[in-house]
Amino acid sequence: MITLSIIKADTGGFVGHSAVHPDMMAEARREVERAKDSGLLIDGAVASCGDDISLIMTHTYGCDAGLIHSFAWDTFQSTTHIAKELGLYGAGQDLLSDAFSGNLRGMGPGYAELEFEERPSEPVLCFLADKTEPGAWNLPLYKMFADPFNTAGLVIDEKMHAGFGFEVYDLYEEKRIIFDCPSDLYDMLMYIGAPARYVIHSIRSKTLDITAAATSTQRLSLIAGKYVGKDDPVMIVRCQSGLPAVGEALEPFAFSHTVGGCMRGSHHAPLMPVPLKQSHTSRFDGPPRVVALGFQVHEGKLIGPRDMFDDPAFDHARVQATEVMDYLRRHGPFEPHRLPLEDLEYTTMASLTKRLAHRWTSLTTEVATAPT
Ligand code: 13P
Ligand code: 13P
Ligand code: MG
Ligand code: MG
Repeated sequence: MITLSIIKADTGGFVGHSAVHPDMMAEARREVERAKDSGLLIDGAVASCGDDISLIMTHTYGCDAGLIHSFAWDTFQSTTHIAKELGLYGAGQDLLSDAFSGNLRGMGPGYAELEFEERPSEPVLCFLADKTEPGAWNLPLYKMFADPFNTAGLVIDEKMHAGFGFEVYDLYEEKRIIFDCPSDLYDMLMYIGAPARYVIHSIRSKTLDITAAATSTQRLSLIAGKYVGKDDPVMIVRCQSGLPAVGEALEPFAFSHTVGGCMRGSHHAPLMPVPLKQSHTSRFDGPPRVVALGFQVHEGKLIGPRDMFDDPAFDHARVQATEVMDYLRRHGPFEPHRLPLEDLEYTTMASLTKRLAHRWTSLTTEVATAPT
């Protein structure tokens, strides 16, 4: 068995929240090389999307492994150190604790991990997004694994026809459920259509009895109890041979769907599929970006990456995202561009409530006392 782990953190932005400084990337790459040399990792790659660094690693320690998580934690400490030296923005933004204890749960960095028996050929897609939240994967995962208008294999591939089990988390109440699709499709949509709260955590093939996809589901804002940055998500999708073909797993992103995030983590905006070189978010700290890195995993080695959205076939989605961004921006501080009050990452509402309390008068009392 091998484990593929993507562990990510924002340890400082260059400039503002737009991208990662090259010196931080170089430091993360040095650390990963050292970990390969020492035998901790079978293989590793480092990539960034916007201001988040992702460590993409293969190893034999399983999910939630202390050794792997502490390696990532130490690496993010080193990149934070560089961010501090250069005065970069929000140095150490996602490192919420002073000391590492056991694993990264609740400590700030996000992670998606999959342990599996490597198939004779193992094509894997690593999706990294910036300026959005884990629920952003709900719609594309639904399309990949449950929508025959997206994934032809659901209809015409014997190994896919029985469907998939979707594990969904309730991030507010810390509960989970497995939906058996297609029979539970309509039940599931009632939940995952509300992606700020219900998030697909993993997906299993019913025929092959293997896990096909895993996402990061940490909610920084809830963990910290205050705004510390949107929990920019990552996701692993295994492909082919009874799972969605690579092209079926990429196809949902040809539609630039609207997600929560963007400026101050407080706006709806379209998710734009981009090549790595276009992943920095400059306009209104957005639009939110997603990159897809393709690997063939072979004997634990990461053969790749291929930069999958570096393809003119996604140009239209990028144009569509720009148009939707223009449209939404014109709403300024109004919903649905601005997130509903309960989902805002920044808010003045608490202080306004206090300050204006004496100026709000009850309509019902006024009616009762109004002269006739
Ligand atoms: P597999 O069944 O080998 O995954 O082939 C499907 C495919 O890639 C068609 O596009
Ligand atoms: P990040 O979560 O990517 O750091 O963005 C925070 C933000 O406030 C952007 O406006
Ligand atoms: Mg940031
Ligand atoms: Mg970010």
